[in-house]
Amino acid sequence: MVKMCCLGAGYVGGPTMAVIALKCPDVEVVVVDISTARIDAWNSETLQIYEPGLDDVVKQCRGRNLLFSNDIEKHVSEADIVFVSVNTPTKTRGLGAGKAADLTYWESAARLIADVAKSDKIVVEKSTVPVRTAEAIEKILNHNSDGISFQILSNPEFLAEGTAIQDLFSPDRVLIGGRETREGRRAVEALKDVYAHWVPEDRILTTNLWSAELSKLAANAFLAQRISSVNAMSALCEATGANVAEVAYAVGKDSRVGPKFLNASVGFGGSCFQKDILNLVYICECNGLPEVANYWKQVIKINDYQKSRFVNRVVSSMFNTVANKRIAVLGFAFKKDTGDTRETPAIDVCKGLLGDQAKISIYDPQVTEDQIQRDLAMNKFDWDHPLHLQPMSPTAIKQVSVAWDAYEAAKDAHGICILTEWDEFKTLDYTRIYESMQKPAFVFDGRNVVDPES
Ligand code: NAD
Ligand code: UDX
Repeated sequence: MVKMCCLGAGYVGGPTMAVIALKCPDVEVVVVDISTARIDAWNSETLQIYEPGLDDVVKQCRGRNLLFSNDIEKHVSEADIVFVSVNTPTKTRGLGAGKAADLTYWESAARLIADVAKSDKIVVEKSTVPVRTAEAIEKILNHNSDGISFQILSNPEFLAEGTAIQDLFSPDRVLIGGRETREGRRAVEALKDVYAHWVPEDRILTTNLWSAELSKLAANAFLAQRISSVNAMSALCEATGANVAEVAYAVGKDSRVGPKFLNASVGFGGSCFQKDILNLVYICECNGLPEVANYWKQVIKINDYQKSRFVNRVVSSMFNTVANKRIAVLGFAFKKDTGDTRETPAIDVCKGLLGDQAKISIYDPQVTEDQIQRDLAMNKFDWDHPLHLQPMSPTAIKQVSVAWDAYEAAKDAHGICILTEWDEFKTLDYTRIYESMQKPAFVFDGRNVVDPES
């Protein structure tokens, strides 16, 4: 039986390994993490991650060929294939602060693998990493182990949160990059055999290591660029009377453009887009390509502009002051069908409104009050000016309350901001909401979920 171990039981490691275990009953999969709390949650009845379909997959294979454990050394040393799916956040201090990827977790994972390995292993980069990280990892592994051979593969993950299980069951493509040597090609084939249990062969792409690493950053940059393009267009639509949904529909009908990922919004969020584009920007700068770096930087700048434009629109529409006015915020997660709030535009929008002394009442079906309070209390790290951090005042935090449903949040509010496109917001009784609000009542729909006709 092939033994696999994955370092990192997060949003990627947990679901990805659970699906591999489900689809490959002949493989033993162990997911390990330095966080005991995370492993305990994976072993409990209530998973920490809200992801449609995930519960079912975990229940089917946990205890069969899927294990969650804190015994990192044992399981890494026994594995034939070790996936590394640890976090690779943006550096907040030192060289490249605000842009470069922080590879501290990755490096300590690599050193641990080298320390405990007693047999040859394939080490798979699952985390999103800067191009040429595999070279550094190879050096760390090969200089710290006794005659054991390691093959490094890059196998970036393309799942999106909220649709992770669907994406893993039926991926557009699986990408595997490896060394162009006999051993490298053999390692690529071994990983390809795993995915071939359920992914059609023509969807499994193999490339060299650097192409695979860079493709992941490029894919996220292209996706985010579409959103910033349509969001930039939304500003012009609002100035001219054009309707951005109609413009996006017309543009997307061109088969060369395609209809997906053209929804104008309050801005993109999530743990990946901003982080990965900033990483790309930094890599371009390090490679002496400032024009290319500036091109991609603009995608982030438009995203920041879109969030502040939204706040400005709220304040200016409400007679230039929201001080002590009650504003209901519907949706706090960075997109629907997830409880994840990393880089959610709701944080910036709420902070902007609090900065103007609004009282806000927040409702999100999957985000806890604790999480909201933590997110709003956290200092915002300004990627463009890493040294100028803006602390949130304790009085502003007191202006926040969390409601148990949308109707409660909207009661007595002067305005509503819709910041996540949860399906339930499409079918709310907006007449009831309107009646319970202060007049004149305002709705600011940051996700185009309300149909003004109905
Ligand atoms: P996460 O923060 O949810 O999970 C990472 C986990 O790794 C944490 O639980 C942490 O405790 C653990 N960890 C850190 N160092 C460790 C070590 N040395 N040994 C064992 N465990 C360790 O992060 P995530 O969202 O799962 O993302 C992981 C990687 O996948 C990142 O590089 C990210 O860019 C990439 N990615 C994320 C997504 C997504 O939608 N979240 C999609 C594709 C790719
Ligand atoms: C993204 C990539 O899609 C995925 O392939 C990669 O592996 C990880 O990063 P994720 O961040 O989970 O996935 O969600 P995604 O669906 O891409 O949405 C990101 C943000 O963009 C969300 O805030 C979403 O609301 C926003 N978005 C998306 C828009 O504003 N408009 C759109 O048309 C699409």
